[in-house]
Amino acid sequence: MHKNNYWQDYFKNVHPTYMEEWYDELEDITIPSKCFQIFDDEREAIISLLDGNADSKALDKTEKKLSWAFKEIKGERFFVRLGSRSPKDNQIEIKKPKDVFTAFGDSSRILEDLTLASMVDYTPYVFVRKWVTIPQDKEFRCFVKNGELKGISQYYYRTKYYYLDKPEQRKLIEFQARKLLTKIKEKFKLKNFIFDICYRPTEDLPLLIEINPFSSWTDPCLFDWALDKFEDFDFKWLEDISKPHKPEVDSSQPLDVKQEGGNGVPPTPKECGYPA
Ligand SMILES: Nc1ncnc2c1ncn2[C@@H]1O[C@H](COP(=O)(O)OP(=O)(O)OP(=O)(O)O)[C@@H](O)[C@H]1O
Ligand SMILES: [Mg+2]
Repeated sequence: MHKNNYWQDYFKNVHPTYMEEWYDELEDITIPSKCFQIFDDEREAIISLLDGNADSKALDKTEKKLSWAFKEIKGERFFVRLGSRSPKDNQIEIKKPKDVFTAFGDSSRILEDLTLASMVDYTPYVFVRKWVTIPQDKEFRCFVKNGELKGISQYYYRTKYYYLDKPEQRKLIEFQARKLLTKIKEKFKLKNFIFDICYRPTEDLPLLIEINPFSSWTDPCLFDWALDKFEDFDFKWLEDISKPHKPEVDSSQPLDVKQEGGNGVPPTPKECGYPA
């Protein structure tokens, strides 16, 4: 296959879940955010940060846009990501606009996505989000196939959370996830996707964190892309602490699939069985 087609295909499959594709419609159920686009010179400057020869005029432009967004969102701390992904492999807590350059400049996730944008001629978006405290035991990844909720897994899947051993607790989480999915489906038309939530026991609805592609580019947490078919609903939590999931890896965060693949190249959409 021609290399460019490969990346075009890849982009075509991941782009529908980029934040710019759903934020406006789902604003009332997710974390307050402001966004702006970064143009070729700014994108190249961020990619060059690591080499120390970034175009400072271009960075100034981005910094001004960041300052605008920080003022709009207000607060002491912020979460800043691309529409595609965050710099969670490097740093997520941001206090001032310049911190974004530190966080983005040394994040493989950001550099890969900016490079992809350049290859497919896409102008990426940056989202500045209000900082919210998300307790690790309350974050869940929810799998939607053909418009139906088919799976929920704890997001931090290497840690045992004892409250999840209680079936009634898992039911409450599932109930909130289903309620949120009904809201998402009113506005978001993809049939297959994965959404991350922060379960809020004292509220009606969980908080929508973000949406990911339903494909092996997205970490399946306690599910397994090779084994699980997502036909019947299943809730997965770490039951037996003596059998940790994916013990060969020590990070407690979901992995980038590219790292898991081991060869730096994600599988093609076709290889993933990604629905057309
Ligand atoms: N506004 C926020 N404030 C504080 N922490 C946040 C915020 N948004 C996200 N996080 C934390 O950072 C993690 C990564 O954020 P997000 O899901 O937006 O990025 P991502 O790169 O797409 O990650 P993923 O691999 O989960 O798809 C989240 O799982 C959550 O724990
Ligand atoms: Mg994501």
